[in-house]
Amino acid sequence: MILPIVMAGGSGTRLWPLSRQRFPKQFLTLDGQHSMLQTTLQRLSGLAHQAPLVICNEEHRFSVAEQLRANKLAHSGIILEPVGRNTAPAIALAALQALKSEQDPILLVLAADHVIRDEAAFCQTLASAKILAEADKLVTFGIVPTKPETGYGYIKRGKALVAANLNGSEPEAGRFFIDRFVEKPDLETAKQYIESGEYYWNSGIFMFKASVYLAELKAHRPDIYRDCERAIANTQSDLDFIRIDKDAFLDCAADSIDYAVMEPLCNNKSTSNKAIVVPMACGWSDVGSWSSLWEVSSKDPQGNAIRGDVIANNTRNSFIYAQDKLVTTIGLEDMIVVETKDAVLVAKQSDVQQVKAIVEQLEHEQ
Ligand code: GDD
Ligand code: MG
Repeated sequence: MILPIVMAGGSGTRLWPLSRQRFPKQFLTLDGQHSMLQTTLQRLSGLAHQAPLVICNEEHRFSVAEQLRANKLAHSGIILEPVGRNTAPAIALAALQALKSEQDPILLVLAADHVIRDEAAFCQTLASAKILAEADKLVTFGIVPTKPETGYGYIKRGKALVAANLNGSEPEAGRFFIDRFVEKPDLETAKQYIESGEYYWNSGIFMFKASVYLAELKAHRPDIYRDCERAIANTQSDLDFIRIDKDAFLDCAADSIDYAVMEPLCNNKSTSNKAIVVPMACGWSDVGSWSSLWEVSSKDPQGNAIRGDVIANNTRNSFIYAQDKLVTTIGLEDMIVVETKDAVLVAKQSDVQQVKAIVEQLEHEQ
């Protein structure tokens, strides 16, 4: 069975002032009902899987434990990182931990902060990829890109996979080897990729055997592999929490799976046949900004996505979020208004990426 690994350790500041270092995006309730972390686990109900392993920063342990408990979400432990070292080490820790209790599980690596509109299609696509992971492939899930977004990884589709590539097992049609993997290209490059029609966005979701990922990490980043192995060798468990060796993990370099493993693996002709892209059409969004949240939200006939106590007169195509007060707007178009107890953001939809700069400014002034 598939073992989901839920990565919930990001600091996501792009949804400021709602997301904060102490309360990042994955813990937010954007649909008015469940947090993104809760939804990440709930949407797996259409897939046969084991109880997920969650990995997050120590600082967020109570938020995670409480959110899982509140929705009665089964899990097989919460690994606590004393510091964030990005996704390559986080996945390594989870893989090594999983190998302690099972021979070689197939890991489904999930981000805890994505929106998926079509959950049935999502689960079906994941289930169809299992056969590939069983054949020792590293599986990525590709999203057809809609704009030259520079915050994503880009996957160039290679040759189609056939039974001969899978020891005789027949893969579903439309699965491809990967010709190139480019993490966060610049805008010009991203535009060329989109025009070529040969690239997918990397969804940030992966499926592979624990041993397969670890072997690749060891080949490309032996330093990260070694430090994670040391950090997970001596764990201490209290309640649901799995605490790793702090000193060993502090030594570990920070890098993402995309840079540390996927780029070197896919961009080398002799190893690129180990990676596969499975296209995924399920209304995926990484909700990396207020405007992308507006895009995936249900809207009123004027195109407004409204949360909380809001009166929006003569207002169009805007996202208005009221947490603590009544918010009223008149004559707005293409705007973002987010009100929280101690901060208010008012921005043009087209400028919302600049929220990052505000957060940096605030950190500087503290
Ligand atoms: N446990 C843990 N520890 N989780 C982490 C850490 C960490 O140190 N760093 C990030 N995460 C979690 C985040 O919470 C998120 O759920 C996921 O890992 C991905 O991290 P992001 O920081 O959001 O990555 P990204 O959005 O810049 O890029 C990745 O996702 C894109 C799609 O959303 C890459 O995989 C891109 O290639 C991809 O296109
Ligand atoms: Mg992300």
